Amino acid sequence: MMPSAGSCSGALPAGLSLVPIAAEHAATVVRWRMDPRNRPLFLTADAITVTSQLAWTVRASADVTDLTCVALLAGGPVGMVALYRVERGEAEYGRVLVDARHRRRGIGGAVSGIIIAHGFARLGLRCIHADCLAGNDPGQRLLASLGFARCGVWRREPSGPEVVRLGLDRRAWARAAMGTPYERHLDQVLARTVTTKCAPWAPAQAGAAASTMET
Ligand SMILES: CC(C)(COP(=O)(O)OP(=O)(O)OC[C@H]1O[C@@H](n2cnc3c(N)ncnc32)[C@H](O)[C@@H]1OP(=O)(O)O)[C@@H](O)C(=O)NCCC(=O)NCCS
Repeated sequence: MMPSAGSCSGALPAGLSLVPIAAEHAATVVRWRMDPRNRPLFLTADAITVTSQLAWTVRASADVTDLTCVALLAGGPVGMVALYRVERGEAEYGRVLVDARHRRRGIGGAVSGIIIAHGFARLGLRCIHADCLAGNDPGQRLLASLGFARCGVWRREPSGPEVVRLGLDRRAWARAAMGTPYERHLDQVLARTVTTKCAPWAPAQAGAAASTMET
């Protein structure tokens, strides 16, 4: 059965917050990403260690185009999500992962809806892209529930797994009123260090650049 498009409920788990990824999350992120159930679901299945994750975190923290966030419930980490390569009115959505003990409770949909709503409503993005392995059914369904549309398929290596490229443009997001349930909660869920990190795309620039998603 094909995933239904744009069906994310918009419900937010109580007490959910998103903070920038930091050194204190390194061990948890390594545990999540190296879990044999999660590792094959990401495009980069390379081994990571706490040391390499700490070095990556320093780079991501200094990168003003990278909003990689950890989701907290009652102060404890339950997952992560990112908008990255936030440039010229476009961005990549990804690095989404929910701790296996907290899945199917709306956290993945909520953190995704919040970060995408921030991207469109506050950063002025015109288009958000995503890549997901074709065989990752929960990932594909999550993307479809957020309104992402399939653009094409590719492989990192000729013998590698098929990757689906998807896109979500702000007009489709607005038409489906996908952001409505999230926009009023942005300041409650997003730490100020998240909302102030990336500069908004200026409307004058937005008008000048052509988007591959807008026709
Ligand atoms: C994908 C993932 C982030 C979903 O997190 P989650 O908190 O369980 O997601 P939610 O409960 O918010 O579900 C949102 C939607 O995702 C889809 N979904 C999530 N888990 C699913 C599953 N096991 N099977 C089918 N669809 C699923 C559904 O469309 C769901 O909406 P619904 O509950 O109305 O049917 C989680 O399964 C995960 O961390 N997987 C491993 C990492 C990964 O694959 N990341 C995605 C890379 S593209």
